[in-house]
Amino acid sequence: MARHIDIEEQPGEALEEAVRILKAGLPVAIPTETVYGLAADATNPAAIARIYETKGRPQFNPLICHMASVAMAEQHAVFDPISRRLAAAFWPGPMTLILPLRQDSPIHSLATAGLETVGIRLPKGFASVLIEKLGKPLAAPSANSSGKISSTSAAHVEADLGQKIDLILDGGSAPVGVESTIIKVESDSSVRLLRPGGLVADEIERVIGVKLIRPAAASAAIEAPGMLASHYAPGASVRLKASSVQKGEALIRFGRQAVEGEANAVAVFDLSPSRNLTEAAANLFDYLKLADASGANTIAITPIPSTGLGEAINDRLERAAAPRS
Ligand code: TXA
Ligand code: MG
Repeated sequence: MARHIDIEEQPGEALEEAVRILKAGLPVAIPTETVYGLAADATNPAAIARIYETKGRPQFNPLICHMASVAMAEQHAVFDPISRRLAAAFWPGPMTLILPLRQDSPIHSLATAGLETVGIRLPKGFASVLIEKLGKPLAAPSANSSGKISSTSAAHVEADLGQKIDLILDGGSAPVGVESTIIKVESDSSVRLLRPGGLVADEIERVIGVKLIRPAAASAAIEAPGMLASHYAPGASVRLKASSVQKGEALIRFGRQAVEGEANAVAVFDLSPSRNLTEAAANLFDYLKLADASGANTIAITPIPSTGLGEAINDRLERAAAPRS
């Protein structure tokens, strides 16, 4: 079991211990507003190697580097005017920008998987305080075994990675619940949505005044190397757009109305009784894990609108339901 420190009850201790472990070249699990991250010093190759090893993650899949301020981000990446405008509008927050890596940046090539670009995000809250105190960017993928469901609580991190890491900072439930939206600006008229996420695409389009280019489903894996078709996979199989429940299945529904055969369900979860997508995103990974733990062979999930945050929710559900390699 990892050591747990509650960041609200013991902020000083949490900060000191995390900095000590990060400086020793080891990863620490930290809360962010989207999901928990497994963080390490982005300039230390041995520390980054520990992240890949702990998650069982392929090393061709680059990590997001987290910054404490825009000034710090500018030391590591080259900003174009649109990316700068997005940063001003949405950072700190659930948005990652893919930008050219500065040649003089000390971010190690293991964090960027050798690419000439780097994924950068300014997280909200305690993570930002920690980065400021360490004085270096933190490379941090989601704190889960590669291919599994992301962690939105310290308990999720403990269950998945607790045997492999020293410290988990406990910041309660992650408020957004899905990972950051990943954006790459190619030119004034070509801005790509590489991963839908916690920042709704409409809001981005409102700021930049052009439509985001979405990847064709098949090419998504190439644009953001981590976007493999099968991801977020629970142990049980996943059946989407369900209108009824079969014996032995668990049910995840969206909204109060009864679903045919509901009495057959091994367990029932409601992402949002009032059909609120923000609430549904915050509950998504927790309920997938609980449904998986219910012993069901299949998790049946009712349709969820793909507007607003529904785009990110449906993206994660499609990957959870994809055939496993
Ligand atoms: O909300 C989040 O983004 C969370 C928290 C911890 O910040 N992090 C997260 O990291 O979701 P991860 O590693 O699970 O997903 C990062 C994604 C991967 O799909 C990776 O391929 C992509 O970002 N990525 C990172 N750097 C990239 C780059 N230079 N070019 C294209 N894609 C990149
Ligand atoms: Mg992940």
